[in-house]
Amino acid sequence: MTRKLEGKVALVSGSGRGIGREIALKLASEGARLVINDLDAEPAEHTVADILAAGGQAVACIGSVTEADFGDRFVKTALDNFGGIDIIVNNAGYTWDNVIQKMTDAQWEDILAVHLTAPFRILRAASDFIRDAAKREAEAGTPVFRKVVNISSTSGVYGNAGQANYATAKAGINGLTRAMAKEWGRYKVNVNSVAFGLIMTRLTQSLTSGNASVDIGGRTIAVGVQPERLKAAEATIPLGRGGTPEEAAGAVYMFCIPESNYVSGQVLVCGGGRP
Ligand SMILES: NC(=O)c1ccc[n+]([C@@H]2O[C@H](COP(=O)([O-])OP(=O)(O)OC[C@H]3O[C@@H](n4cnc5c(N)ncnc54)[C@H](O)[C@@H]3O)[C@@H](O)[C@H]2O)c1
Repeated sequence: MTRKLEGKVALVSGSGRGIGREIALKLASEGARLVINDLDAEPAEHTVADILAAGGQAVACIGSVTEADFGDRFVKTALDNFGGIDIIVNNAGYTWDNVIQKMTDAQWEDILAVHLTAPFRILRAASDFIRDAAKREAEAGTPVFRKVVNISSTSGVYGNAGQANYATAKAGINGLTRAMAKEWGRYKVNVNSVAFGLIMTRLTQSLTSGNASVDIGGRTIAVGVQPERLKAAEATIPLGRGGTPEEAAGAVYMFCIPESNYVSGQVLVCGGGRP
């Protein structure tokens, strides 16, 4: 059976863990060749190894998406190893919550840097290749649809107390999505966002699980949710529970396949029925 993404080249940021890892595995299982990125080398190499073990193709591009030259490095890794770019998923990120009176400038700036500035730079870095490839393909009469999926959050669509930084960044990425859908329509690039509700990863683990912090660039940041808040959140979800990373990846996958070639500039909420 022909796989949906045979031979496509997909770049997924933050694909060492959680939702990004599942997106990468899903795209690879449908035949895509993957550039895996993560801040942390070990989980990234693990994702690469799992794809290779399943008979797929993948390489790692380790480092923080917030490094000024990261976008260029990410794009170069794809071009050097696989000779093209078909799918870009801007997924890397974390939360660093606080009420506004306690939110530091670093908290504000770092969250905007990872969720908004980094995706902008990655897309800018890919723009020369995309424009040239689209022109070549149009002249040859063999047009190719390319896909950008930006990961947003219901926090960015509806707001969330304690997340002024994150909600702003995730709303911003939806603006970038809509602008790029208009700018790159002429190059046959579909640009969409997926805004997740509650997905069960380390970011949303119950605080009773004992691992409620992440190390980001040498800084230890508390993550996780109070068990009673988690329960209350789940009670408001029509499907009755948080989503799995595999289910989250499914929503992104829908925007990567040819069946969605006429869908662009959209923000899809993937939240188990909760608006
Ligand atoms: N889990 C949820 O409920 C939820 C809800 C809405 C949106 N999201 C978004 O989904 C995306 C993935 O989150 P997740 O829940 O899978 O978290 P996760 O922590 O399980 O995985 C995120 C991965 O991104 C990596 N990462 C973080 N900062 C990075 C950086 N600067 N450069 C490169 N890699 C970096 C981490 O090391 C980690 O491996 C994030 O953008 C997050 O904001 C998650």
